[in-house]
Amino acid sequence: MEQKRSSFGGTIGFVLAAAGSAVGLGNIWRFPYLAAKDGGGLFIIVYLILALTFGFSLLTTEVAIGRKSKQGPLTAYGKIKKGWGFLGVLGCLVPAIILPYYCVIGGWVVKYLSVFLTGGCSAAAEDGYFTSFISGTYEPIIMMALFFCIVAFVIFRGVNKGIESMSKVIMPILLILVVGIAVFSLTIKYESPDGTVRTGLQGLKILLVPNLKGVTAGKFLNVLVDAMGQLFFSLSVAMGIMIAYGSYVNDKANLSKSINQIEIFDTAVAILAGVMIVPAVFAFMGQDGLDSSGPGLMFISLPKVFAAMGRAGDIIGFLFFAMVLFAALTSAISIMEAVVASFMDAFKMSRVKAAILEGLIAFAGAVIVCLGYNKLYFEAKLPVADGVQILDILDYISNNVLMPAVAIATCILIGWVVKPKTVIDEVEKSGCIMGRKKLYVVMIKYIAPVLLFVLFLKSIGIINL
Ligand code: ALA
Repeated sequence: MEQKRSSFGGTIGFVLAAAGSAVGLGNIWRFPYLAAKDGGGLFIIVYLILALTFGFSLLTTEVAIGRKSKQGPLTAYGKIKKGWGFLGVLGCLVPAIILPYYCVIGGWVVKYLSVFLTGGCSAAAEDGYFTSFISGTYEPIIMMALFFCIVAFVIFRGVNKGIESMSKVIMPILLILVVGIAVFSLTIKYESPDGTVRTGLQGLKILLVPNLKGVTAGKFLNVLVDAMGQLFFSLSVAMGIMIAYGSYVNDKANLSKSINQIEIFDTAVAILAGVMIVPAVFAFMGQDGLDSSGPGLMFISLPKVFAAMGRAGDIIGFLFFAMVLFAALTSAISIMEAVVASFMDAFKMSRVKAAILEGLIAFAGAVIVCLGYNKLYFEAKLPVADGVQILDILDYISNNVLMPAVAIATCILIGWVVKPKTVIDEVEKSGCIMGRKKLYVVMIKYIAPVLLFVLFLKSIGIINL
């Protein structure tokens, strides 16, 4: 029996849910690190230009595909153009691969939140704390399960009562926390044991002032590709998510305006995350602290920074990890929804059945990812890194291989097969005027596929910039 499709109650609900999806671990741990590494303001300027052109085009495309097809990603592409169903399979595979490891990292956040809640700041700052936690047998699984239960609970409640209601509560709190911690970070002044005094404002300079020292054409291309890869993950495009969320948007909604708001929210939080993290890490640890990336920054460097703050560190650390938890939850929920929506549409399943099926698959996957640091430990070699574990392999397959491939194929489908007018008409269906229309056409036909191809070659290690 055909079920009535759920929908967001209003545009605000959609914008907050999509912004919730976009604002995630990517904004908080990767953006600040990349900005610090890639010339500060230089990276930010490149990122902003790409967000307004490349990001805008991909986001508009996916939301429009979702709203036009009224399908989850698995069946949406086939509905837009017969014979393109294969792209739906790839597009649905991406969130299915990401969800297990995203929940594992969500579990790490839960663990750190509980540690800071119980005043364990100095323990968390000790060398080896993070490694000994993730390589434990049971604790990472229990923490992941806690995170996972919240995600699954919201998905069971559905689009309206679950995703939309939760986003409306969480997103404003998240924004207040980010702004509050960022302001605090700017007020920091620290004298290191060797007598050097460093301030948060000096760290802010590293983040915002373009550093063009030693920038060659090759290095600039590297910054461009880093910014593009980051934007991609950050906006939740090529993960099937924006198609799923787009399919719940009312035909009368002003898509153009909503897309701008989602972009502004995501970019603002990414820059604020930079303002929150870079000045604090710089003040307490100097440039060396900024050089650690990935989990190192969030789970190793930052606890040391919080410990160095003294008593305030327990509170700031707790607020920080609460904020990260909120960001990770709304993103994980959207990742799960992309798969659940796909199952519901493709196999005509009820939400409960689809959620149980995807829940079981993702949970089993997440347990395997946890065991990748324990019973199933091995060190693999990828074209872009050595000594990696299961989590990194899943991240590589989804981020470096599948996502660029899905995005390139989407550009070809929209730019050359069904033509950009399909998306423009969908956006303008409600009577609104789509801004940057000409730019959109040029981006989706020519520039985005070329840039994506370069990103793809770099991601799979064929070119080394
Ligand atoms: N867009 C989400 C993030 O940044 C997936 O983490």
